[in-house]
Amino acid sequence: MTYAKEFFDLQLQFAGRVSELGAIPLQTTLLDFTNLYVRFVGDRKFDGNSPVWTAYLAGMVRETDLCDWTYRFYRQRPHRIRPASVVETFGCFSYAIEHPDRIRLHFHNADEGRYGPLSEERSAARLSELTSLVNHVRSQHRTVRQVAGVSWLYNLPAYRRLFPECYVATAKVAANRFRNMPLWGQFLNRHGHIRKDAVALFTRRLNGQTSMDELAQCFPLQPLSVVASIEAFHEFYA
Ligand SMILES: CC(C)(COP(=O)(O)OP(=O)(O)OC[C@H]1O[C@@H](n2cnc3c(N)ncnc32)[C@H](O)[C@@H]1OP(=O)(O)O)[C@@H](O)C(=O)NCCC(=O)NCCS
Repeated sequence: MTYAKEFFDLQLQFAGRVSELGAIPLQTTLLDFTNLYVRFVGDRKFDGNSPVWTAYLAGMVRETDLCDWTYRFYRQRPHRIRPASVVETFGCFSYAIEHPDRIRLHFHNADEGRYGPLSEERSAARLSELTSLVNHVRSQHRTVRQVAGVSWLYNLPAYRRLFPECYVATAKVAANRFRNMPLWGQFLNRHGHIRKDAVALFTRRLNGQTSMDELAQCFPLQPLSVVASIEAFHEFYA
């Protein structure tokens, strides 16, 4: 899926404001306070010397319109949805092995039907994907004992209902996720366009921000970190 230009404009706006507030070079805030590196490079190393990243920064010097350049650069890159660490995908869900005893769940919209991927109409399809995923983990990775996740999505009842209660009950705010989709994904809808209401609230809060303190409070939803035993998942989907 190709994300809309406004999604990138928003992140550039944030990086620019953080640069002013913290007296930090823009090149640094682009790396540390936006999801651009992940979108362009694809890995999670945040290597400021990566050839792709340095090519992007080099263009900033040449180009007059940063928003325009950023979006053109994005459009030229392969649009990876699946991080290299992902082991297997089941529809909208995938997982990575985080530790030998723990998997990490990921979500992206792979449902192109008429209803939203988190709608009531599609919840049976999501539950079936999660059931297959858990069965796959149990058969292929016998050392795995826990399932973990970090996402803004755990704020949404439509998402929470897909998981065992004991899993969502462990939700704790995950700090410092400025580089990641578990924070920035909240500004997108299923078509890759921005959610105007969330963006308007964010922009208002960002304009009122006077220091580097509590930057995360500009975001309408906080990313939540959750974890539970794989047994709880197995019982829930059985
Ligand atoms: C997750 C995603 C598909 C949701 O898109 P969507 O178009 O809102 O999809 P749905 O219509 O199925 O949304 C389900 C519900 O969540 C609500 N919702 C979605 N985003 C919301 C937000 N930012 N704030 C509040 N509610 C939100 C919707 O209003 C809807 O509720 P409703 O059924 O009561 O109207 C979309 O945000 C996305 O693709 N994001 C990028 C990927 C991402 O963030 N992945 C997670 C990375 S950890």
